[in-house]
Amino acid sequence: AFNLRNRSFLKELDFTPEEFRFLIKLSAGLKAAKYAGNEVPRLAGRNIALIFEKTSTRTRCAFEVGAHDQGAHVTYLDPSGSQMVHKESVKDTARVLGRMFDGIEYRGSRQAYVEELAAYSGVPVWNGLTDEWHPTQMLADMLTIQEHSDKPLHEVSYAYLGDARNNMGHSLLVTGAMLGMDVRMVAPADLWPDEAAVVGPARDLARKTGATITITEDVAEGVKGVDFLYTDVWVSMGEPREVWDERVELLMPYQVNAEAIRATGNPGVKFMHCLPAFHNRETKVGEELFAKTGHDALEVTEGVFESPRSIVFDQAENRLHTIKAIMVATLGD
Ligand code: CP
Ligand code: NVA
Repeated sequence: AFNLRNRSFLKELDFTPEEFRFLIKLSAGLKAAKYAGNEVPRLAGRNIALIFEKTSTRTRCAFEVGAHDQGAHVTYLDPSGSQMVHKESVKDTARVLGRMFDGIEYRGSRQAYVEELAAYSGVPVWNGLTDEWHPTQMLADMLTIQEHSDKPLHEVSYAYLGDARNNMGHSLLVTGAMLGMDVRMVAPADLWPDEAAVVGPARDLARKTGATITITEDVAEGVKGVDFLYTDVWVSMGEPREVWDERVELLMPYQVNAEAIRATGNPGVKFMHCLPAFHNRETKVGEELFAKTGHDALEVTEGVFESPRSIVFDQAENRLHTIKAIMVATLGD
């Protein structure tokens, strides 16, 4: 068994492959218990702070519902809801919240902030997304891949198409490397992950775990034979609107569409996306973008998104079970 009590969950590289697998297994167990109606609350009386400097649907709701299912209470702090950063340093905020709360979730731009909260609060801190990493998403994605595979994770392959220099590109590369998988980053060279901070550590892990890492500009080569195709938005939260034009031009060849599906040569290939996704015009930003670019869809077509091969809402649901597992493992009785 693994004891993760009082540990923080800041980035994938802080965990061993065994610890990561343990969290996936715990998530599956909590999911089964919730479905069976016999979930045991292990967070009774705990108080949890949820700091969101960026917006969220899945992550926030997963923390709130997961905490409630387990008997804990949450306090939600949006950017205008606390003094942090505007009037008070992260270090001071950490020491205040650590006196009142048993655990703290943080979503925002800087990885340094979530690390600082962990260093000074004295309680477990969980990274709900930064510009650099999205580790809670990784647990949900690996649980989802496991549920949709008839082979063990280390025999599974996936290709990530799009902006491989963002939090999702980083996390998917490192996590696949950690779990011994066949991971492909398919992106224009300008959007490949940073060599020193991401690719190097991933290659080091791969040498130990037997993972295969491919980083290529070539879609046909990159997606050949994969079990899963993954994509994310082309412009992330916090990036300026102005980058849309160049990103759309740079990344349109990497759109997940019928042709990309065909290029895998795998009729059973599944489609994944952490969401939110731009696959039609049904959002305010989408409408604006589509009017400007003339494209009907960006990173994924409506056809692929709405097809039976799309498992995006299983991923979304699994955010709940996996985030609950992180809270239980680090804070539970
Ligand atoms: N995938 C994800 O993190 O979604 P939210 O931004 O809605 O939390
Ligand atoms: N790369 C995206 C992920 C959203 C869950 C972003 O940071 O906006």
